[in-house]
Amino acid sequence: MALEDCRIIELPKISNPQGNLTFVESNNHIPFDINRVYYVYDVPGGAERGGHAHKELHQLIIAMSGSFDITLDDGKNKKKFHLARSYYGLYVCPMIWREIDNFSSNSVLMVLASNKYYEEDYYRDYDDFMRARWAK
Ligand code: TYD
Repeated sequence: MALEDCRIIELPKISNPQGNLTFVESNNHIPFDINRVYYVYDVPGGAERGGHAHKELHQLIIAMSGSFDITLDDGKNKKKFHLARSYYGLYVCPMIWREIDNFSSNSVLMVLASNKYYEEDYYRDYDDFMRARWAK
């Protein structure tokens, strides 16, 4: 899977005078089954998160509140995204390195993930990731 497969997905938004509602269905709005949800919050100013790639995991990253920047990197090209609306999600396919920074105060980053947490699914070393990504 390639960097071009990673993209902003606009999710359904039901608006009425009482507020907005957004929903996400496995294999409908996103190209995978959701098996885990996690969220990152109380991020101190200036913090950088991410700094890893996944071997097999698919993810949708949503700014549930506030905003942050995500830089995706396939080892050859990089693409930067600014997430600031809870009806947009960034789909991140396997084998893509990500760095997340520029968190606004009170931001909440939610991830819908295709599988449970397995540390073996991570590349945490950029050189290991590069070798695996571009191995012939
Ligand atoms: P990590 O994925 O490195 O977070 P980030 O990319 O946001 O910086 O995870 C941070 C720590 O939390 C790490 O020790 C693994 C643990 N963790 C779990 O135990 N379960 C999970 O579902 C996730 C996402 C992380």
